[in-house]
This record gives sequence, structure tokens and C-alpha cells, in this order.
Amino acid sequence: MANIGSNLNKAKSIIQSGGLVAIPTETVYGLGADALNPDAVASVFSTKNRPTFDPLITHISSIGQVDSYTLRWSNKAWALAKKFWPGPLTLLLPKSNSIPDLVTSGMEKVAVRIPKSELTLKLLNLLKSPLVAPSANPFGYVSPTNPKHVEDQLGNKIPYILDGGECEIGIESTIVGFDSEDNATVYRLGGLSVDDIKNEIGDVQITAHSTSNPQAPGMLKSHYSPKVKIKLGNIYAGLDKIKEIDQVGIISFMQPVQKVPPNHQVVLAPDGSLKTAAKNLFSALRYMDTINISTLLIEEVPDYGLGEAINDRLRRAAVK
Ligand code: TXA
Ligand code: MG
Repeated sequence: MANIGSNLNKAKSIIQSGGLVAIPTETVYGLGADALNPDAVASVFSTKNRPTFDPLITHISSIGQVDSYTLRWSNKAWALAKKFWPGPLTLLLPKSNSIPDLVTSGMEKVAVRIPKSELTLKLLNLLKSPLVAPSANPFGYVSPTNPKHVEDQLGNKIPYILDGGECEIGIESTIVGFDSEDNATVYRLGGLSVDDIKNEIGDVQITAHSTSNPQAPGMLKSHYSPKVKIKLGNIYAGLDKIKEIDQVGIISFMQPVQKVPPNHQVVLAPDGSLKTAAKNLFSALRYMDTINISTLLIEEVPDYGLGEAINDRLRRAAVK
């Protein structure tokens, strides 16, 4: 099994010898490897069972490093980076030759971000290379938000998990790209809300909605998916159709449901806060895979701010 700890020198030496270390970020845990070592990058894909057409995000520790791995900034990208890094924002920028083609699946743009995690920023500063880090889960499953989640699924495949505790945000970064005229497009809704982005750079296009014919693989219709069958919608209407009430799990926004046993329910945000809901979302989905139920009823959360990214995850989780 993987060791879990906060030994940065150990993490550094594993990465430098081409190995994988799970790293904490404010969004979700990542499966980290040396971004400039194609063999290490290849083992990230194989360890996650991830198709090599689905590119990886490159993590750096300072804004100045962007120039080493990309050809140029866009004005809007610069404005967003200055405002929101370190933070849950990933920028798509034209890649330089220093980034191996495998990292971007042969695409011309590289996804970069500075994560907000003290331990991971320290590790990045110790290393000479940036780190690729997809979410540290098997391809298609729910992303991990604590070290135990990583251990449960990848513990027998990786040597070390850097322990930064629970992720502060709990859903993945928002991905933004720019065309040649510097028009911005959101390709994945995430931990930074679209409103926050608009306040900084004006209007943005959103092409992040569920699709079976994605422009970016992160737009895949089915993703973040637990094993149990999910019905998304009105949980009371859903309950009316179910005969065996002890076979049902419920994920609700603010209120539990009377008829269903408490240990079959997770209330995402008793305080009504979308931040709380985002933080609890992936743990809730994982929990439902550990109890004995045949159907999981989930209600959507209010569809604004972080709620848009949460509902996006729920819709994809519900597609099998
Ligand atoms: O919050 C996050 O972004 C986390 C933490 C660990 O940083 N990482 C993460 O990585 O969510 P991953 O691999 O699970 O999701 C990255 C998404 C994928 O859907 C991928 O298709 C997209 O980013 N992506 C990466 N590079 C891209 C590129 N060059 N062009 C278009 N999409 C890209
Ligand atoms: Mg992922």
C-alpha cells in the first residue's frame, strides 16, 4: 500500500526518479509526475487507465514559469492569472517545445495552473520540473478530496501520498481558453465561478456542458461516476416510485428526507452554502458506493455560482 505522509524530500526523490506521488491541491488530489519526463507522464496515463487522448494539466509554482512552458500570454489570461493564482483556475495557452507532446495529447495548447496548497507549492519549489497531475482516481470515477480516497483506489499502484488533509474547495479547477482575438471560453465549470471570471475580463463563452462529442475530453458526457445507479431530479417523486425504501440512498442539498434511514443519506449543505456543498460532493458520491443500495436519488443544487459546476458534475455522474 502507499505510504501517506508529509515528507517532501521523499516525494521529491520519487518524482525525480520518474515515479508517481499523489499531491494535495485546494480542488482535488492529483496524481503527480515530472511533466518533463515522458516516461513518467506515460505511467500517469496507465496508472489511471486513462486514454492518452485526454491531456493533462501542468502545475507550476509561480507566474514567471509560464514563459518557460508556453509561447505567449493572452491579455485576458494574464489578468485572470494575476487575480486568481494560486487558485482553482486552469489556463489553456500555446505550448512551447519544452512540454512533451504526450502531456497535451498532441494538442497545441497546454493547460497550466498554480494550485493553492502549501505542501504542493513547496514540493514544486524543490523540484526543477513542473508536475502533471490529473485527479488521482481511476478514469471516469469520482475525484479524491482526501488521502484516504486516493489510497482506497490507487493505494496499490503508487508509493506515496502527500497528506495535505481535506481539499478546501472539493471540485476541480475551472478551465479557460482564448482564441486568436482573445475571446475567452470556459471549457470546464469548476471551483472558480463564471461570475468571478466575468467580473475580471468581461463576457465569456461557455462550452462546458455535457456532451458525447467533446472538444476537450473533460467535457465527456459520462464522468465523475460512482458505481450505483443514479436518478437526478425531484427526490420525493423518485421515492414514490421505489418499493424497497431500505435500498435507496439520498443526496440532498439542505434537508434530509423523513422516510429514509439517516445512514443512507448525505445532506450536502445544511447551512445552505454552495461552498459547503462543493466541498462535500465527491465524498458523498463515494460514500454511496460503500453502502448497500440499488438506487441513488440526488437533487440538483441552486444553479448559480459554484452551483453550476456542482450540477455539471451531478449530470455527468448520472449518465452511465
Ligand atoms: O483541479 C484540477 O484541475 C485537478 C487538480 C489535481 O489540479 N486536476 C484535474 O485534472 O482535474 P484532470 O486530468 O482530472 O482533468 C483535466 C481536464 C481534462 O478533462 C482534460 O481533458 C483537460 O483538463 N485538459 C487538459 N489539458 C488540456 C488541453 N491541452 N486542452 C484541452 N483540455 C485539456
Ligand atoms: Mg479528472
